[in-house]
Amino acid sequence: MATTKRYDVKDLALAPEGVRRIQWADRQMPVLAAIRERFEREQPLAGYRISACLHVTTETANLARTLKAGGADVVLCASNPLSTQDDVAAALVDEYDIAVFAIKGEDNDTYYSHIEAAVDHKPQLTMDDGADVIGVLHSARREQLGDIVAGTEETTTGVIRLKALEADGKLGFPIIAVNEAKTKHLFDNRYGTGQSTIDGIIRATNVLLAGKRFVVGGYGWVGRGVASRARGMGAHVIVTEVDPMRALEAAMDGFEVLPMTRAAQIGDVFCTATGDKGVITAEHMKTMKDGAILANTGHFDVEIDKSALRSLATETRHAREFVEEFTLADGRRLYLVAEGRLVNLGAAEGHPALVMDMSFANQALGAEYAVQHAAELERKVYPVPEEIDREIARLKLATMGIEIDQLTEEQAKYLASWDEGT
Ligand SMILES: NC(=O)c1ccc[n+]([C@@H]2O[C@H](COP(=O)([O-])OP(=O)(O)OC[C@H]3O[C@@H](n4cnc5c(N)ncnc54)[C@H](O)[C@@H]3O)[C@@H](O)[C@H]2O)c1
Repeated sequence: MATTKRYDVKDLALAPEGVRRIQWADRQMPVLAAIRERFEREQPLAGYRISACLHVTTETANLARTLKAGGADVVLCASNPLSTQDDVAAALVDEYDIAVFAIKGEDNDTYYSHIEAAVDHKPQLTMDDGADVIGVLHSARREQLGDIVAGTEETTTGVIRLKALEADGKLGFPIIAVNEAKTKHLFDNRYGTGQSTIDGIIRATNVLLAGKRFVVGGYGWVGRGVASRARGMGAHVIVTEVDPMRALEAAMDGFEVLPMTRAAQIGDVFCTATGDKGVITAEHMKTMKDGAILANTGHFDVEIDKSALRSLATETRHAREFVEEFTLADGRRLYLVAEGRLVNLGAAEGHPALVMDMSFANQALGAEYAVQHAAELERKVYPVPEEIDREIARLKLATMGIEIDQLTEEQAKYLASWDEGT
């Protein structure tokens, strides 16, 4: 049953495999499934056109199904040229009648034409992972800004950009910053990215991490996750930071902290996770060991200076799927994984569904909240309301079969008092 809508995916024949994998992920997403059931009954998004620019993965498919169940007319495009799972894109079109514009490995022009196609949907709600749709709406499509009730943003880098837009007084509609929810960044950024980043590096290179020097650029939520998982695999982990507090935390968590200039000389595997640009530059590449592996898990492919790597190299060659070999003038070889793009989505499947369950519960409930509170929301970046965040945590615990204690009345009173002491 192909959709009657426009779409651009690799091959609809991949749909059956996509359906199986979407169902597999769905089993790990009980909170989102419960929201989907309620949405089906209550239709909170009835009649809303949503343009979603997210990684086209099995988990995103279950979010798109949820939004559709809530009555929305959803169009999905990719938020990264390498992160699309082609079978999932096909399944969404063929089985779930959701229009998708995304092909794994698409070039930059196709990537942006797909975003344009999503914007052509004339959205009233937007969903971004990195603010790309919002970027187009605030530049080439400003005439559409007035139609939009609100947007949601999934990741740290997107939220930073949207806050900058708000600070400039240029934000065109309210944003719910999903990344700011505790049930998002504490778990997705840390445990989801931590595990899937290691997964991506290993799938691409088959490197043994035990005994290796593994350098993590940045000790934010993502960096903490990557560092702890790399340590769990037996690597000696070195952290680089620019923030003294985060560097101190990394040191007291037991990691070696070094500036990148020194880490570059001894690292075997490098993974940037800063959201910043130019974290690994020509200066560092010139001193790296033969065989060093370079990967990035921050949002954009600007953390490793790829043009520096290209200009330092006398020869480049495709070494394995998702691995490019760069031979430098003195014969040393450096290996770039997944073109320096998000390695967990480029070379693996992104976060496990169990953790995306919470991130996408925030997306679905954030969209519902935005619609319900459209009249009072201003052109600002709002956090996900705490009641929603706590409710998601409560539901997640319940689905994991974990019970917790309740405050007694006496304890609640004690914790709210100042005059009871020794
Ligand atoms: N791969 C994924 O699936 C995935 C998932 C979530 C977030 N992200 C992205 O990962 C990036 C990091 O997210 P986060 O939530 O950890 O952000 P964060 O703000 O918590 O952490 C970033 C850290 O990087 C440090 N930093 C900045 N510039 C640096 C530099 N030049 N050298 C060393 N350290 C530097 C900052 O001090 C900070 O501690 C963002 O781009 C985010 O969008 C990716």
